[in-house]
Amino acid sequence: MAVETADLPAPRGPLTDALVRALREPAGSDRALDAAGRAAAGGGALEDDVQLALHLCYELHYRGFRDVDAAWEWNPGLLALRARLEDRFLAELRALTPAADVPDALDALQVEYADERGASHHLADEGSLGQLREYLVHRSMYQLKEADPHTFAIPRLSGGPKAAFMAVQFDEYGGGRPERMHARLFADLLEEAGLDPSYGAYLDAVPAPMLAITNAMSLFALHRALRGALVGHFAAVEVTSPPGAARMVAALRRLGIGERGQRFYAEHVEADAVHEQVMRRDVVGGLLAAEPELAGDVAFGAGATALLERRLDDHLLGCWRESRSSLLRPVDEPAESAEPAEPAGAA
Ligand SMILES: [Fe+2]
Ligand SMILES: [Fe+2]
Repeated sequence: MAVETADLPAPRGPLTDALVRALREPAGSDRALDAAGRAAAGGGALEDDVQLALHLCYELHYRGFRDVDAAWEWNPGLLALRARLEDRFLAELRALTPAADVPDALDALQVEYADERGASHHLADEGSLGQLREYLVHRSMYQLKEADPHTFAIPRLSGGPKAAFMAVQFDEYGGGRPERMHARLFADLLEEAGLDPSYGAYLDAVPAPMLAITNAMSLFALHRALRGALVGHFAAVEVTSPPGAARMVAALRRLGIGERGQRFYAEHVEADAVHEQVMRRDVVGGLLAAEPELAGDVAFGAGATALLERRLDDHLLGCWRESRSSLLRPVDEPAESAEPAEPAGAA
């Protein structure tokens, strides 16, 4: 079976207009790339044109795009363009992320995540089925390749932290059972919600706040120099996951998504409580014992993750407050297979 890839998306500005045009040509057709290079200085680093351009550059290292020459992945001109965009993105993230030490950064996340009302609180309490489906569409950008960015860290770690990191990854990839892979469980959830589970199906619908979350993972993942930030990011995800996942299970039940669709978040309530401990003690603790100079970057990775998640929450809640969609294009209405709502409180 062929690996599932996405179609090239519609451009969102002069940069992605030129870049999409370049990617339709064989790798090394530098004329279109020159136009992208000229456009690379413009646009906000966290805005749609730059974030979609970064997504295009990074996706070449995962599954690529349908009908795009795989040789673009290591094209020097494309890598030079990516480096310019990354410099701007990283500078912006560093400027916006408050400095903290590592235990404080992780503890603060736990407290804030429990207290601040984010999208998962809204969905658990009062959000509509349409808002839940929008949320799943945003998350599909990462969850359908869940754990893949972090896998790039493995050759960059050694000893105890590497073994512990692998133990977490083994769970993320289903412990040897494809039907238990977290990405597969998320695809099942999309199906149960009447959404398209294909990889990258909603790229054209997902705006910059979510693309920035996955792009930050890839930025940290693809630079050995940023391995501390990647570990900090992963630790932040595991620390905040169990309470958020529990709220999502409540939201899915309340909105009538059946048991098969609940498995993804239910699994994260259980598994991430264990992963959090492993990440804190064995991965972060072990890494900093061996390389204490990485502490600043571990805290930066955790803080930047919190910052980007908060921006997504602000975007979602802001749109929903005004009764508008948080997506760039509407997604189809639920398929008829979506199950009828269960009474509130039903298991
Ligand atoms: Fe997971
Ligand atoms: Fe996990």
